[in-house]
Amino acid sequence: MLAQTPPMGWNSWNTFGPEVNAQVVMETADAFVREGLSEVGYEYVVIDDLWEADERVQGRLTWDVEKFPDGIPALAEYVHGKGLKFGIYSCAGSHTCAGKPASYGYEEVDALTWAEWGVDYLKYDFCYAPPGVDGPMLYRRMGQALRATGRPILFSVCEWGRHKPWEWAASTGAHMWRTTGDIQDAWESVLNIGFERQSGLEAYAGPGHWNDPDMLVVGMYGQGNVARGGCTDAEYRSHFSLWCLLASPLMIGCDVRAMNGVTRGILLNREAIAVNQDPLGRQGYQVGTVFHGRQAADVWAKPLADGSIAVGLFNLGERERRRVTVAWESLGLHDRRPCRVRDLWASDDLGLHRGDFSTMVGSHDVALIRITPQPCE
Ligand code: GLA
Repeated sequence: MLAQTPPMGWNSWNTFGPEVNAQVVMETADAFVREGLSEVGYEYVVIDDLWEADERVQGRLTWDVEKFPDGIPALAEYVHGKGLKFGIYSCAGSHTCAGKPASYGYEEVDALTWAEWGVDYLKYDFCYAPPGVDGPMLYRRMGQALRATGRPILFSVCEWGRHKPWEWAASTGAHMWRTTGDIQDAWESVLNIGFERQSGLEAYAGPGHWNDPDMLVVGMYGQGNVARGGCTDAEYRSHFSLWCLLASPLMIGCDVRAMNGVTRGILLNREAIAVNQDPLGRQGYQVGTVFHGRQAADVWAKPLADGSIAVGLFNLGERERRRVTVAWESLGLHDRRPCRVRDLWASDDLGLHRGDFSTMVGSHDVALIRITPQPCE
């Protein structure tokens, strides 16, 4: 069974866009091993759009030979040789978003082609869908075609939340589905996609099927294809914390060949990843009332399998620092219940607390804690 916990990996689009090629992908696979990304769970190395040749050959998709001189099957083998999995991209319409040939009307032959090439993951986009054709039906077709290959291929639906895919995508065989348009490397984008547009979708996620608020921009610092000014270290930490609490797929978008220490510290934080990968598979929810505009503090909570609760205390305000509090009662705990609190970014035990926990948080930063209820004395 695929995707029993949220898929983890890397996708070429955020940094490389049209510049993706075999060398970048091989060096990324090397970096997965060298940097310890594979050891903490990152597994899928995915090529996004613009790997394709301009035309089909004898009805089959084929690759751009300039970018992939040895072909995609050899590249898949290279990635497999590192103990990793290999992913590719296509589109439910006649063309991909970047204008290359796509899979509408070729679903079965394309699925078989990818299975032959050793593909383990398909990201399936929604550009150039024929007018009047039912969107969910296009995904149903590819879901069926992938299943019929007999190869386990993770199915990542990317229709940008247009037709509420949380309501139907899992029934097409999808393991994850985008809930919004494209993320950009800017705090405004993280705020909009993450903090403002995910609340309420938690009922739809679970083992084998996940909401996808798009790939991570952590570590991009304004470089690459979706860079729009970049984020600060605090903003990347908040972004990653929220994606962990949301049980979102963790698809890295930066250049992992050249991560700085802060980026490593974020992407490789085992305790934050454990929140994301928790076997209970519950997506976190926004604590308290629904988000109204750009309020200054925001609290999200994710129940975990061992009875503990991960909580993110976010300061979304522009002021330097502010106190952010979570009350036990808002988490479904009796306020006299003593709880152990651990700070997951500082790797620090903060002792026993009753009633609530509160801490100072810097502007756009987060305190990510794990609250473990103890027996009442
Ligand atoms: C769409 C998707 C992006 C990316 C591009 C590629 O915009 O939402 O994630 O795959 O297409 O062209």
